[in-house]
Amino acid sequence: MELYAMKGGVPLVGEVEIGGAKNAALAILAAAIMTDETVTVENVPDVRDTNVLMAAMESVGAMVVKTDRHTVKINGSKIDNLVIDDEHIKKIRASYYLLGALLGKYKHAEVPLPGGCNLGTRAIDQHIKGFRALGADVRVEHGFVVAEATKLKGGHIFMDKVSVGATINVMMAAVMAEGRTTIENAAKEPHVVDLANFLNCMGANIKGAGTDVIRINGVPKLHKAEYAIIPDQIEAGTFMMAAAITKGDITVKNVIPKHLECISAKLLEIGCEVEESDDAVRVVATKRLNNTQVKTLPYPGFPTDMQPQITVILGLSEGISIVTESIFDNRFKYVDELIKMGADIKVEGNTAIITGVPRYSGANVSAPDLRAGAALVLAGLAAESLTVVDDIKYIERGYEDFPEKLKNLGAQIAKVRDQKELKRIEFGVS
Ligand code: UD1
Repeated sequence: MELYAMKGGVPLVGEVEIGGAKNAALAILAAAIMTDETVTVENVPDVRDTNVLMAAMESVGAMVVKTDRHTVKINGSKIDNLVIDDEHIKKIRASYYLLGALLGKYKHAEVPLPGGCNLGTRAIDQHIKGFRALGADVRVEHGFVVAEATKLKGGHIFMDKVSVGATINVMMAAVMAEGRTTIENAAKEPHVVDLANFLNCMGANIKGAGTDVIRINGVPKLHKAEYAIIPDQIEAGTFMMAAAITKGDITVKNVIPKHLECISAKLLEIGCEVEESDDAVRVVATKRLNNTQVKTLPYPGFPTDMQPQITVILGLSEGISIVTESIFDNRFKYVDELIKMGADIKVEGNTAIITGVPRYSGANVSAPDLRAGAALVLAGLAAESLTVVDDIKYIERGYEDFPEKLKNLGAQIAKVRDQKELKRIEFGVS
């Protein structure tokens, strides 16, 4: 099993280029099969999630060709199978975006019910409610969600819960439905807006993405497009937090500072310096940081995908901090790992009560999921002595070249194949 090994205590300094947004890419790649013409998508991050989704698209007959590491050409004209394989959905939940894309284009799709994943129960009732409002017959059979319709008609959907996935899936299903669809209480995340912009480039008529109400006028068909994905808000936020936790000075480049405001504001509040320019944000930390309260919320609130990273920072800050997770019901599993590194954190329900300790100590820890895995790496970069993070397959789902980018900022980190190789590397610690 591959591992990241690191020795902390080095302030990270320098510049880092942020890649395309994984979560936008997952939606946009799936939507690209909705035309029979060839679509070119640029700035696609080369991470496990996007690669698995592209394999799922190929498995139903789509042509997917990478013309360079971050550019993909997709042609959905030869799709001959509307059933997504269980293996793909097991590997990546977002394969269920093919449900909206295939239903929208072919009026039929079958996708295995995505299981509960390690953030707690993740229902898809709002996706199903949206498809039904468009006139689809949706049933769960033999573990599959089967959605079909003779034709889709625009409808009015009020989401009971703000859901990124349901907003995206219903938007895709609605773009070629007859007439007007309204999605109320829609998610406003940057990747929802990016998908809407992409679909509009393909000839769709979507208005209001980025607000609570999205209005879609159905069009008969979509056409070819060339599109570049927005920068990854969470990758950028993770490197901003790397500066904060190592008392470093990092400029994240190729970002949209507006998307990072919720993260910048918290870092300012706890005592970092944050400087914004047109497409970069610099974070400098020179002293022990202060305590605060954080509650995760849908965009533009503080993102749940940054919750583990801020918790790791607050674990080293002065005084007592409170972090409340309001999006998922089981997103503090990594705290047990952090406690192995000396953190003083108590979790009660969806709240973590954090008493800042002066330092973490290196330990062997396991990444329980993607963002928590990245957060444990941040803890390791601030810890005394050697930290080993295993289960890094989760981290590789969403961070491209993570150890390499950290190394360029001065981190002592290496990816090793197994414990045997670990024994051979030296960071000057025994
Ligand atoms: C997406 C992101 C994920 C991020 C999350 C919240 C992708 C691929 N993943 O996940 O990184 O952490 O948004 O910003 O973009 N819910 C229901 N019924 C539904 C759908 C959702 O009850 O039909 C609940 C979920 O259980 C959860 C909450 O709504 O408690 C938010 O989920 P949602 O926004 O849908 O998250 P995902 O799209 O799965």
